[in-house]
Amino acid sequence: MMVGIVGLGSYVPEQIVTNADLEKILDTTDGWIKSRSGITERRFARKDQATSDLAKIAAERALEDAHLSPNDIDLIIVGTNSPDMHYPATACLLQEMIGAKNAAAFDLQAGCPGWVYGVTVGAQFIQSGMYKNVLVVGAEVITRMMDNTDRGTYVLFGDGAGAAVLSTVEHGGFLSFELFADGSLAEYLTLPAGGSRKPFSKEVLKERSYFTKMDGQAVFRFSVREISRISKKVLEKAHVPLESVDWFVPHQANLRIIQSGAQELGIPMEKVVVTIDKYGNSSAASIPIALDKIYQEGKLKNGDNVLMVSFGAGMTSGAIIMEWSKCTPVRS
Ligand code: ACO
Repeated sequence: MMVGIVGLGSYVPEQIVTNADLEKILDTTDGWIKSRSGITERRFARKDQATSDLAKIAAERALEDAHLSPNDIDLIIVGTNSPDMHYPATACLLQEMIGAKNAAAFDLQAGCPGWVYGVTVGAQFIQSGMYKNVLVVGAEVITRMMDNTDRGTYVLFGDGAGAAVLSTVEHGGFLSFELFADGSLAEYLTLPAGGSRKPFSKEVLKERSYFTKMDGQAVFRFSVREISRISKKVLEKAHVPLESVDWFVPHQANLRIIQSGAQELGIPMEKVVVTIDKYGNSSAASIPIALDKIYQEGKLKNGDNVLMVSFGAGMTSGAIIMEWSKCTPVRS
């Protein structure tokens, strides 16, 4: 049985925050941000928007694209690092918001590869015969997890959501998946407080440990290494030669990471999808947003081989190679 993407949608908030806007609140410059990260602007969610609100819009667009109703969805997985709250799961809030009454729902926290992990998990449910249609959303209001006094992190991130409906397809679809985690590197990227290890307290407030802490250079090295290592592995498993990759959709964390990763892998930049300049790093949402961009632009054609690779907190990484094929899913 072949499983693939039968509907795709995304949403980014309307508010644009430029590097010039950040120059006003942080000791930084447009030149530094552009040259070190490739980012010129990013989107921030409105004050009244939480992650589920962004997820809802992306999910409804994906359902419409799939010609499916919310009742057709059997399972919702939301990959996120900035859930509305600790619990209940954002996926349950989303289930209610879109009226997917027949769906089971859970969140998947795997750092930035949350959506890649989610698609991998969702596809297994379809392959096993347990479910027909699975909605996998990557959604983040990740900027609220960032410290606006920390120039090393605050300038890099943006909010957004991307969603895919998975179902059986007649041709192509997912050719192979690869997931990886190395918990010994966990300290590279953390949000230390607010959990059971370090509950909220006056000390937490003082040290601002309820915001993301990142060793940028260590993350950078891990990311470049993982892009090429895990991509080669997933391609080998699917017997797809590198030259047959039509689109490379990497996690959008830093343009230099993307360029170094693509170069180490040997993929020319014209095959690489880049959105970091406009949207910054939207964490688990970045890959479905980037995929939807080339889809909406009409560039993604049936038969195209798409390589998606992500890396992030954990440290984790994940890669998927798929043959793009969009057919009408089976209605339940
Ligand atoms: N503006 C101006 N100067 C800055 C800024 C800023 N926004 N941020 C840091 N600097 C300074 C530093 O303080 C340092 O100054 P110093 O030399 O006086 O100490 C100098 O710039 C160089 O800092 P580096 O950390 O060496 O800069 P680098 O070239 O490594 O770039 C960056 C930093 C952009 C964070 C880079 O390391 C990076 O992108 N790493 C990966 C981050 C990432 O991808 N994170 C997320 C991945 S997973 C996920 O998506 C959740």
